[in-house]
Amino acid sequence: MAVGIFDSGLGGLTVLDAVEKRLPDVPFVYLADSANAPYGVRTSDDIYALTCAAVTRLFDAGCNLVILACNTASAAALRRMQESWVPPDKRVLGVFVPLIEAMTERQWGDNSPPREVDVKHVALFATPATVASRAFQRELAFRAIGVDVEAQACGGVVDAIEDGDMILAEALVRSHVDALKRKMPDPDAAILGCTHYPLMQQEFQDALGGDVRVFSQASLVAESLADYLLRHPDMLGTGASDFLTTGDPRRVSDRATQFLRRQITFQSA
Ligand code: DGL
Repeated sequence: MAVGIFDSGLGGLTVLDAVEKRLPDVPFVYLADSANAPYGVRTSDDIYALTCAAVTRLFDAGCNLVILACNTASAAALRRMQESWVPPDKRVLGVFVPLIEAMTERQWGDNSPPREVDVKHVALFATPATVASRAFQRELAFRAIGVDVEAQACGGVVDAIEDGDMILAEALVRSHVDALKRKMPDPDAAILGCTHYPLMQQEFQDALGGDVRVFSQASLVAESLADYLLRHPDMLGTGASDFLTTGDPRRVSDRATQFLRRQITFQSA
């Protein structure tokens, strides 16, 4: 029994890398639904069906706990899955809440009423489906008051990263940051609300300027998972780590190896 990490493609590797470093003794099974990526341009029903299928594959691989290392799936499918689909002996967690807890300076799992926080103007960069879901604003409203959020749907960035076209990805990041700044000229914080975007973190920071605090999820999710496993040791996995993809294993392995700068070998899911 390992802990499952799911993403539509390669972006969740940014989360996997951080959780492996934070929890070196925990085995992880990573599943990339590369055949169906990107999710960010799909309808929520479609994202729900694909995410349930992928999580089922991870349950079948022996995972009792699955992290959706995909904001799009967390935003469009997680609540519905938790309400009516996840079996009682399994857990599925998303990546939104740890980020919002950190941004609103809360302890992990603190459910006290919303309060004023330091950040006032937040730029959210995410996929079109995540922006359309308004899940970030909803989760934020449970925890903070008086925060102005401007969301920018970053079409094309995930496709460029999955294709390994980093020059296009960089140009798109600059144009999405420019578009955001036309709506909110002086954000004090920016959220990289897609697990692919930390692969372009420097480009976001350069385009936003050094004064903007950029929150990215990987290390926050790792801390929150460590805390969760401390409170739920029964979910702590044993067994072997593995990398699974619904796409072409050789192509996905090459890209993953390039991104993480270590050999990664995917098998067919
Ligand atoms: N990395 C994902 C996310 O965090 C997936 C993006 C996509 O497939 O469009 O949203």
